[in-house]
Amino acid sequence: MQQAWNRTHAEQPLVQQPQAEVVHFAEYLCTCLPHGALVLDAGCGRGRNARHLCKLGFAVCACDLSPSAIAIAQQQTASAHFQVADLTHLPYPDNYFAASVCSRVLPYHTKSDLVRSLGELWRVLQPDGKLYLDLLDCTDAEYGKGTEIESHTFLDEGQVPIHFCTRAEIEDMLKGFRIEYEARLVQGSNRVVWEFWLSKGTLP
Ligand SMILES: C[S@@+](CC[C@H](N)C(=O)[O-])C[C@H]1O[C@@H](n2cnc3c(N)ncnc32)[C@H](O)[C@@H]1O
Repeated sequence: MQQAWNRTHAEQPLVQQPQAEVVHFAEYLCTCLPHGALVLDAGCGRGRNARHLCKLGFAVCACDLSPSAIAIAQQQTASAHFQVADLTHLPYPDNYFAASVCSRVLPYHTKSDLVRSLGELWRVLQPDGKLYLDLLDCTDAEYGKGTEIESHTFLDEGQVPIHFCTRAEIEDMLKGFRIEYEARLVQGSNRVVWEFWLSKGTLP
């Protein structure tokens, strides 16, 4: 997995602009968190969103599975603290971050790793901490491409798992969070993405 993501980051052009949905979420964070609040970019890639969060005055930690991505991200944004880490085992204490962004990362998991990573994101958030995340819907046009390794999870050409969610599955996975905002976005002709703004609640 790490090698596949290293290859992707080496081959694809560097995108400098933050993701539009994250910009929108970051505006919301500015209305509810103090200047300098600690924010995590989980699965930061080459750091476009971490850089934006720094510019807004947040203290930013960011992590990614890919050492190549982390090296580039740290070069681009000296003010954030980057480290190589797997979302399924985050190297941060409980109740640490006021907010976290996890954009375009969770779909690239098997179901069990997805549940583990969500548990880790929940663990490291402060009570009432805010979380942005997105998931792919089962009606996405890429659904069914590649080898199915478990229900709704397919291996892509680079052997990266992609998990597509049903609505019932999402409700079950997000039980420990309060949903503040959600949107089902149809992007271009093929992507169907669920976007969520969450607050850390209590685990059932
Ligand atoms: C499509 S890129 C998105 C990067 C970034 N969030 C962005 O929006 O620019 C997906 C990223 O997730 C990272 N990733 C995938 N699985 C991960 C995991 N289990 N732990 C940490 N990072 C992971 C990959 O290395 C890759 O950089």
